[in-house]
Amino acid sequence: MKHAVTYELLKTDSRTKARRGIVHTPHGDIQTPVFMPVGTQATVKAMRPEQVAEMGANIILSNTYHLYLRPGHELIREAGGLHKFMNWDKAILTDSGGFQVFSLGKLRKITEEGVKFQSHIDGSRHMLTPEKAIEIQNALGSDIMMAFDECAPYPADRKYVKDSLERTTRWLARCKAAHKDVERQSLFGIMQGGMYKDLRRQSAEEIVELDLPGYAIGGLSVGEPKDLMLEVLDDCVDYLPADKARYLMGVGSPDYLFEGVERGVDMFDCVLPTRIARHGLAMTSHGRVNIKNAKFEKDFAPLDAECDCYTCKNYSKAYLRHLFKADEMLSAMLLSNHNLHFLLKMMENIRTAIEEDRFLEFKKEFYDKYGKF
Ligand code: GUN
Ligand code: ZN
Repeated sequence: MKHAVTYELLKTDSRTKARRGIVHTPHGDIQTPVFMPVGTQATVKAMRPEQVAEMGANIILSNTYHLYLRPGHELIREAGGLHKFMNWDKAILTDSGGFQVFSLGKLRKITEEGVKFQSHIDGSRHMLTPEKAIEIQNALGSDIMMAFDECAPYPADRKYVKDSLERTTRWLARCKAAHKDVERQSLFGIMQGGMYKDLRRQSAEEIVELDLPGYAIGGLSVGEPKDLMLEVLDDCVDYLPADKARYLMGVGSPDYLFEGVERGVDMFDCVLPTRIARHGLAMTSHGRVNIKNAKFEKDFAPLDAECDCYTCKNYSKAYLRHLFKADEMLSAMLLSNHNLHFLLKMMENIRTAIEEDRFLEFKKEFYDKYGKF
């Protein structure tokens, strides 16, 4: 029996835990460390799939919760699966819906069986269980499926976090039992345990025991201070096996990507680049730029002189500012294009730096130029 998804370690940095590898999937290889653009509703917002592929993305993330509610996983199965439905033939990772239903607040109730919730769209009642999350992801046909987990809030007391992570392990065993075709799709487990190091270790030991093709670190970047997050993350990675991919969920600002890579993380995802683009914000090699700023009114230079993306090659800051102020769709399209290109290029440079054993030097260079995060 061969797993659909495997991890190949190419090189480890000599001074940090950073590593260079390849995640092999049925829809192609992914060079790691990697940033995965988010396409929650089977679309990376404001981007055509060809553009996402052109800028070098080989994997995107989509979402069980949203696609189950609308248009429905049976419809996507009928369309021939998510790859065909959205015209994306590279790899897809789907999150399980765990994280989304937990953020519904009052609209949900957790039991051992699963989570009862009300749709954010029409208030209709549903129940997600580990078996249901797998059934939906099987219908979507993603290359990597995420386990149905509970992401504990921050702060949360120890007893709550311990009960929650133990239930998450039981749910993971049920996900594994429900998933039959391991040669077509791979199931990744998710570590929880909040900010408690011993609980992180317990969670890791329990999920690694289930011998899955990859592991994610969940429950971080949920409102805790940055130094606490990095301290916990540092430990988390040590509890995971070196021969499997490691994925830090929901993290994607430039500084967190560097810090995550330095601690041995291979995969990241975040809505940040596309979300801030829709608010007129750009990430550039000299830090964040707010395109609404009056100082750009007659600035006919590109957003980032060092960027070779379509936006920077063809448009000025003055034009981008005008589009944003006029509430034109092209504003979100061009800024999303630039921000995604920027992060993907940054990750490519990180991979090269690891190969050449100058990760820390590259990090310093980047931080010096980027300025305050
Ligand atoms: N996205 C960000 N954090 C999490 C998490 O803890 N669990 C899941 N399923 N998705 C996430
Ligand atoms: Zn650009």
